[in-house]
Amino acid sequence: MATADSHFRVIVLCTFITLLTVLSVGLNFGNVSSLEESSSSLPLVHKGERLQVTQIQDDNEDEYKILGLTPNHSVRVGITDLKGNSIDTNSEIIYHGRFLHITDMHPDELNKLGSSIPKKCHKKLSYIPEDELCHPLGDAMSGCDSPMQLYEDTLAWIRKNLKDKIDFVIWTGDNVRHDNDRGHPRLEGDIFKMNQNVANKMAEVFMDEGEEDDMPLERRVKIIPSLGNNDVYPHNLVAPGPTLQTREMYKIWRDFVPAEQMHTFDRGIYFFREVIPGKLAVLSINTLYFFKSNPLSDNCDGRKQPGYKLFEWLSVTLNELRRRHMKVWLSGHVPPIPKNLHYSCYTKMAVWMHEYRDIIIGGLYGHMNTDHFVPLDSVKAWKSIKGQNDENCTDENCTDENDVEDYKDVIDMYGGMGLLDEDFGVTRKSKRYDSAPQGKVTYLEDIRDSMFARIKGKNKSGEHGDRYAFAHVTASVIPTFNPGFRIWEYNVTDLLKGDIERQFEPWTDFFTRINQELDESDELADILETFDDDDPRTKNYYTLAKDKTIPQIMPPGTPLGPGYVMQLFSPERYTQYYLDLDSAAKDPDFKLDYRVHYSTNDKPYDMDSLLVEDWMELARRLAQSSPLKKSHRGKGDKENKQDLQELSAVSDLWKTFIDRAFLSTGYQNFPFSTN
Ligand SMILES: *[C@@H]1O[C@H](CO)[C@@H](O)[C@H](O)[C@H]1NC(C)=O
Ligand SMILES: *[C@@H]1O[C@H](CO)[C@@H](O)[C@H](O)[C@H]1NC(C)=O
Ligand SMILES: *[C@@H]1O[C@H](CO)[C@@H](O)[C@H](O)[C@H]1NC(C)=O
Ligand SMILES: *[C@@H]1O[C@H](CO)[C@@H](O)[C@H](O)[C@H]1NC(C)=O
Ligand SMILES: *[C@@H]1O[C@H](CO)[C@@H](O)[C@H](O)[C@H]1NC(C)=O
Ligand SMILES: *[C@@H]1O[C@H](CO)[C@@H](O)[C@H](O)[C@H]1NC(C)=O
Repeated sequence: MATADSHFRVIVLCTFITLLTVLSVGLNFGNVSSLEESSSSLPLVHKGERLQVTQIQDDNEDEYKILGLTPNHSVRVGITDLKGNSIDTNSEIIYHGRFLHITDMHPDELNKLGSSIPKKCHKKLSYIPEDELCHPLGDAMSGCDSPMQLYEDTLAWIRKNLKDKIDFVIWTGDNVRHDNDRGHPRLEGDIFKMNQNVANKMAEVFMDEGEEDDMPLERRVKIIPSLGNNDVYPHNLVAPGPTLQTREMYKIWRDFVPAEQMHTFDRGIYFFREVIPGKLAVLSINTLYFFKSNPLSDNCDGRKQPGYKLFEWLSVTLNELRRRHMKVWLSGHVPPIPKNLHYSCYTKMAVWMHEYRDIIIGGLYGHMNTDHFVPLDSVKAWKSIKGQNDENCTDENCTDENDVEDYKDVIDMYGGMGLLDEDFGVTRKSKRYDSAPQGKVTYLEDIRDSMFARIKGKNKSGEHGDRYAFAHVTASVIPTFNPGFRIWEYNVTDLLKGDIERQFEPWTDFFTRINQELDESDELADILETFDDDDPRTKNYYTLAKDKTIPQIMPPGTPLGPGYVMQLFSPERYTQYYLDLDSAAKDPDFKLDYRVHYSTNDKPYDMDSLLVEDWMELARRLAQSSPLKKSHRGKGDKENKQDLQELSAVSDLWKTFIDRAFLSTGYQNFPFSTN
């Protein structure tokens, strides 16, 4: 049986970092005797000892520079005597203040070297034109999934270069090839098997030397998977649990999901991990219950809806994390963008992020294959939720049309093509690009003009941008564009300072409680279902059982969390990596080597930190490059000249944003990039 997170064991770390001088930060952690009894997470401290956090000085600074990472960023937590002399080096634990976000790997076992792009790289033909030939590491904008070599070499590269520099991995799904080849339909058994293979591989890739094979949950690098819309059969389709599917996914992810959460996991493939025990957690959300393309979910308002139940779980979980003074990242596959999600799920997501802005740092997603970010506006979301209590309101007309009408959305674009969620089968001038995605530049322009441009000024958004939260969508490994992933760096300067003396019930008690509460709610939903619509008892039952899927207002005076004000766990920067597939294709001896695409503090983003305000600022700058703004200009020559200069600077910013979104594939120059 897997051991609980709460029984944190200190791992003997291998000597992957040569430790030079140690800069003592010398924090005193107060009452030591209470720690002894605590069920919490830190190394055991005895009388006459204390915990000490020290900054590590890396001697391989060049390596960090090449990787675009900040040297000397890691800290070590160790036990010393009261004079500060180290007592037990074996019990030391290192936090690097970094994590990996990787998504949409889509390894494809059918992908063959030297096969044909129009055949999804599944088939060799007697004659294949040069530009339709499939390459060993994949071909951008080809509509083919990842060759096994791309998938394997990518993970090997990450193991070699990054594994020893990170604390955890957020892995947001889609580990199976697309259902895009009618000659090779996907089967349920194959999908489970591929999910299992990728899970095994992930567990292996992030295992430290000397770690024990039989205790995967205890390993240093925690891995938090979430479910992708292509990880299920048929794709997009997930029923409310428990089902064969939820049980199978639990088995497949048993190395990542704490055993105490099996019951909640079985409700719908969601769970959380403490990545820094007692301090920092990551929630894995099954976004397919919010996803419009999942025919088995309709909204997040009906008590029997799996999305509603997910919010019940979120409510209890976030409350508990807040009580424990923990901070949390949200993660999932499909990002909360209005037209991706049922509107009631989208607005609930926005208000939960807002009312828990003291603990939620942000949201991390995949699915779009495009590097970008989107704001969530709590004022609009609250307005819509309140409007929905209006008896005359349906999901359709409670939507704020102004906000969503402009979107060209993946679902609408591809929905007409049946079950398929990625576009293919379009006829273009070249077969090479028949399956390249359609209209992604237009999609980003829509985000710019209808979301970024509407970000309010300080008076309406709060001193630290409290009104907003952000969802961050990373690039994919699948060569829709060039393959990529990113490393986030977060603040660990003051790790473990503060309230470690608190004692909480063991997590097992909490899970007993949460299971009971959720089961009771299920029973209530069953009772309500037996009533007629106009049964007067319905109202009483609803009053009795407050709707937990709508958050309480954040208690006034609660300090803002790491997403808003620089503090422990605040995101500082990220570095985005990419693989240039064109160079790879030209060179038969090419050895896979990811390069830094950009870091957020590089020009022209120049972001000092990645707080909500920093994202608002970048969004505003991007919005200014909109042609909507340009057209309103008709001034004197002098002003015009200055305007033009400003404009060219902002449109350079937009160009950079677009180039980064498509990982320097030049996608934006193809006619199909707009629609
Ligand atoms: C430490 O905690 C223990 C148990 O909570 C308490 O009895 C003791 O007075 C505390 N000591 C100090 C110095 O605060
Ligand atoms: C990191 O630590 C090394 C070793 O002490 C030192 O030489 C270097 O200047 C430090 N680098 C930074 C960026 O602080
Ligand atoms: C909402 O839509 C329904 C049916 O489409 C319509 O009858 C109703 O008047 C609308 N309500 C509002 C407030 O627009
Ligand atoms: C709902 O619609 C009815 C009929 O159009 C109207 O009489 C009623 O006032 C509306 N209710 C609300 C809360 O607007
Ligand atoms: C913001 O509010 C202050 C005080 O109410 C007011 O003086 C100022 O003009 C407002 N600024 C903007 C840009 O609306
Ligand atoms: C990390 O947060 C602390 C406050 O807790 C702050 O003093 C420090 O400057 C931050 N570090 C960075 C790199 O921003």
